[in-house]
Amino acid sequence: MSPPGRPKGESRSAQREGRPVGPPGRPKGESRSEPREGSPMNDAAEIGAPPLAQAMWIAAVASARLREGMPLERGLALAHERISAQIGGRRMHPRAAAAAKDIAFTAARHRALTDALIARLATRPPSEPVAALLGVALAQLATARHAAYAVVDQAVQAAKQDGATEGAAGFINAVLRNALRQFDALVDEAERDDAVRHNLPSWWLQRLQRDYPQHWQAIAELQREPPPLVLRVNLLRTTRAAYLERLAQAQLDATAVGTAGVWLHQACPVERIPGFTAGEVTVQDAGAQLAAEWLDLADGMAVLDACAAPGGKTAHLAALAAIDLTAVDIDAERAQRIDQNLARLGKHAGATVRVLVTDVLRAAREGRLPPDHYDRILLDAPCTASGIVRRHPDIPWLRRPEDVAQLPTQQARLLDALWPLLAPAGRLLFAVCSVFSEEGSQQIQRFVARTPGARLIPLPVRGGSGRLAEPTVQLVPAETDAGTAEGWPGVHDGFFYALLEKQS
Ligand SMILES: C[S@@+](CC[C@H](N)C(=O)[O-])C[C@H]1O[C@@H](n2cnc3c(N)ncnc32)[C@H](O)[C@@H]1O
Repeated sequence: MSPPGRPKGESRSAQREGRPVGPPGRPKGESRSEPREGSPMNDAAEIGAPPLAQAMWIAAVASARLREGMPLERGLALAHERISAQIGGRRMHPRAAAAAKDIAFTAARHRALTDALIARLATRPPSEPVAALLGVALAQLATARHAAYAVVDQAVQAAKQDGATEGAAGFINAVLRNALRQFDALVDEAERDDAVRHNLPSWWLQRLQRDYPQHWQAIAELQREPPPLVLRVNLLRTTRAAYLERLAQAQLDATAVGTAGVWLHQACPVERIPGFTAGEVTVQDAGAQLAAEWLDLADGMAVLDACAAPGGKTAHLAALAAIDLTAVDIDAERAQRIDQNLARLGKHAGATVRVLVTDVLRAAREGRLPPDHYDRILLDAPCTASGIVRRHPDIPWLRRPEDVAQLPTQQARLLDALWPLLAPAGRLLFAVCSVFSEEGSQQIQRFVARTPGARLIPLPVRGGSGRLAEPTVQLVPAETDAGTAEGWPGVHDGFFYALLEKQS
């Protein structure tokens, strides 16, 4: 397991007192991937910031959908569309969507706290839309992103815009004003509960505590932070040294991570990342970049990327050698992005890529994917995504404990179906972006036990002189310089990897 990294969770009471927390220039809870209003890398300063009420309204509608089980990104898109139609598109501020995303993500990162505050402050349980708007406003108060009076005033204005909340505008005003009178005391009391302090459902926290008795706190604290923006340099188009030089010339602060990664320290929408559109770089977590490297590709190999969409790893594989690559995904919409990614990033001169939209289980059963054929298989399996909560703070609130029972069954089915497709001496890399042992070490232990001829190939968990080999690798979210000099990424999300070889 890699070290959990720099603990960043300074007390929020410090923040409420106005002392600076987190790295200079970045208030705790502020998104690094999504630019804030007025950030130098967006247009807000030129065109003016969107009205807070408008952004809070969109964020609250999306947060209400999250409470019904809809992922936040999708809820935000729908809310923006619906509210634009309601108010007339021209009255929608051009940056309202970005500001709403920032507010909704902040609310998700404070969901346990705001639920606890609402339970304490509301004389009766509010409806879901009212609770969502209160949650959005309380999270803004907790992070002190705007003057408290403005948050209260704009939340009330937002309430009045929407039929689902307009009748509760007075109630929202009263709850928020009451919260402000005793905010620190209320937060301190609520945060005595570990689940509130770490913003996780209790069942999730218990799993983390069971799997990481030493490190659960550091993992939970880091998962609460906005994610680092990490790029993979496309070595087909440029070198990392040249790209770092280009960033330096553009006065963008960055460091090298892993073998081809660059950690861009400043928030930046993808279309403004230098060289992004031209395919010189792509956004890919440094932990995810290890997958293609660890498959150790050589020219002429037949390779299967079994769960490929949106194609982050497909494009990496296709760049590395003159391989014959088949990329499969069951989801047609997501699979379109494989082609888009390949079109932007290109592929190795001798590589061929075929994209199949199908259930890989069915394709294997029907012989559309030949048995004993592939030299390498990447199974980047569907999972709880418990390792990428920094990027998707809605995940803990979308998942149910039953998912941690059901997803490992699905993963086991995929492993069993893909194994016969592997050529003798071929290698299968099993990957999940999860930190739960049911999806990682336990899954692989069971697979090896029931599969004759499946042998684990140790994986290097440090580069250079600090090289260590582990039978399987569980990365937990980290943000540290450790190992960076030797080519090991100290900055990454949570992933589990196991490399299996087929012995004849
Ligand atoms: C973790 S994501 C893959 C991410 C991708 N490898 C990347 O790096 O961009 C898992 C993918 O598995 C796909 N999937 C789930 N079940 C599948 C099945 N039975 N057959 C094919 N694809 C499947 C999902 O649609 C999803 O896109």
